[in-house]
Amino acid sequence: MQIIRRKAALRALTQSWRRAGETIGVVPTMGALHAGHLSLVEAARAGTDHVIVTLFVNPRQFNNPEDLAKYPRTEENDAQKLAPFGIDVLYIPKPEEIYPDGFATTISVSGVSDGLCGATRPGHFDGVATVVTKLLLQTDADRAYFGEKDYQQLQVVKRLAADLDLKTEIVGCQTIREDDGLAMSSRNLRLGAGPRETAPVIAQVLTSAAEDIAWGGNVAQALDTAAKALCAAGFDSIDYLELRSDPELQIMSKADRPGRIFLAAWLDGVRLIDNVSVARRQEIENSEYESLELSRDSWSPRIGA
Ligand code: PAJ
Repeated sequence: MQIIRRKAALRALTQSWRRAGETIGVVPTMGALHAGHLSLVEAARAGTDHVIVTLFVNPRQFNNPEDLAKYPRTEENDAQKLAPFGIDVLYIPKPEEIYPDGFATTISVSGVSDGLCGATRPGHFDGVATVVTKLLLQTDADRAYFGEKDYQQLQVVKRLAADLDLKTEIVGCQTIREDDGLAMSSRNLRLGAGPRETAPVIAQVLTSAAEDIAWGGNVAQALDTAAKALCAAGFDSIDYLELRSDPELQIMSKADRPGRIFLAAWLDGVRLIDNVSVARRQEIENSEYESLELSRDSWSPRIGA
């Protein structure tokens, strides 16, 4: 695995692969790698001849300077974690390779970025869309891998790739969770011991709300029950808890088309996000999952994946 910091050096390499007719996969990250990121790397290894992981803590997508300052920077550790995966390049661009002097362009995707994190973190998706466009172009990727953990981000990236005629295929990969159901995130490390024990309540309440809705329960009531359970468990506040259509991300008040429940909530000063799909009743009935009643009290991967 080579570490490359200049786009010219990266371009020389990607051009040699292109000449040999080989494909390129990219996994964009901000580092502080965990098993969620590494699952994307595995998918890229399986799907393309050469894999580039990018590591860039993108200042333009942080709407809160304190959040940017606190973001973990663990470059050496990240390189060690990637070593066993047989990737070709860890691209850690110097800031001027992304934002040269005089940089004045913003990619702004409307529609899918309007609600949810777009509403609660103004400017966030402009920052994401701009940096991802640059990373896809700099890496010359045939495929780029993104996690469903950040489902809205995945839809924003799919939209911009389609709208800008990028050749890169955007591949979504399922959320990787801890054994207790908590979606993996670098932010989990900021939780104190007590709040860390509380955090898996997110996956539990989202799963039960998804089940209720899938079985015909009232959407507003199911979301209200989930919100109350989070508050009772000790969450400080909820930025949003909504059922949205998949993939358009329009608000739904009834489960009349495929949807997902999206949550952003604060615990111990840390903002956690998660989302689960609302399986249609027919899918649940046809599934091998026999005891749905039992799953109401426990983490159910079939519905929460
Ligand atoms: P980062 O938070 O480092 O995440 C990099 C990729 O890992 C994203 O596609 C994210 O969805 C995925 N990921 C994170 N946690 C995951 C989990 N538990 N399971 C599966 N995938 C997971 O997202 C970003 O960086 C940035 O916004 C970026 C796209 C790199 C642009 O700066």
